[in-house]
Amino acid sequence: MKSILDIKEKLIRTIGEKRFIHSIGVMETAVDLAKKYGVDEDKARMAGLLHDCAKYRDHLYLLKRVSDFDIILDDMMLQNKELIHGPLGAKVAEIEFGIKDKEILSSIYYHTIGKEDMSLLEKIIYIADFIEPGRTFQGVDFHREYAFKHLDGALRLSMDNTIKHLVDKGRLIHLNTIKARNYLISIEKSELDA
Ligand SMILES: [Fe+2]
Ligand SMILES: [Fe+2]
Repeated sequence: MKSILDIKEKLIRTIGEKRFIHSIGVMETAVDLAKKYGVDEDKARMAGLLHDCAKYRDHLYLLKRVSDFDIILDDMMLQNKELIHGPLGAKVAEIEFGIKDKEILSSIYYHTIGKEDMSLLEKIIYIADFIEPGRTFQGVDFHREYAFKHLDGALRLSMDNTIKHLVDKGRLIHLNTIKARNYLISIEKSELDA
């Protein structure tokens, strides 16, 4: 694996300064959440830093990379190219940034779409992306505080927010995001019933 400095230099060249600053915010938030929830801080740091490593602005280049790496995209990803940088990012992190750790790679893979029964690191990266210091949407302070009190609750609320946003914009919602949210609600319900 390359040094963190090498990775930062390569990353800023790849995704540009604005998204790099966002990535540093996600990295720092992910490390704070990792400390709170007893997750490996180094893995959280690397996953946060690299989560958007394939967020290329040029969609033609994005699709070229998908074909370079023989990545199979489902219909929803083909129709909403914003979703592609998760799966592609996991591959780019592995091949071009030398990341071999499966937990880091799967946190990058699922950071946009989510899935049922996410690992702690996957949850942390998903939420850190939503609440990092550069985010300014209404209510973000509540989400920032809540993330440090109830990880699953915060994850569910961040998925609610994403889904509402997609509905408002008339965009497709990936089935895995719906499944991830249903899973979290069924967990909440079983905790209430216990
Ligand atoms: Fe992303
Ligand atoms: Fe991001």
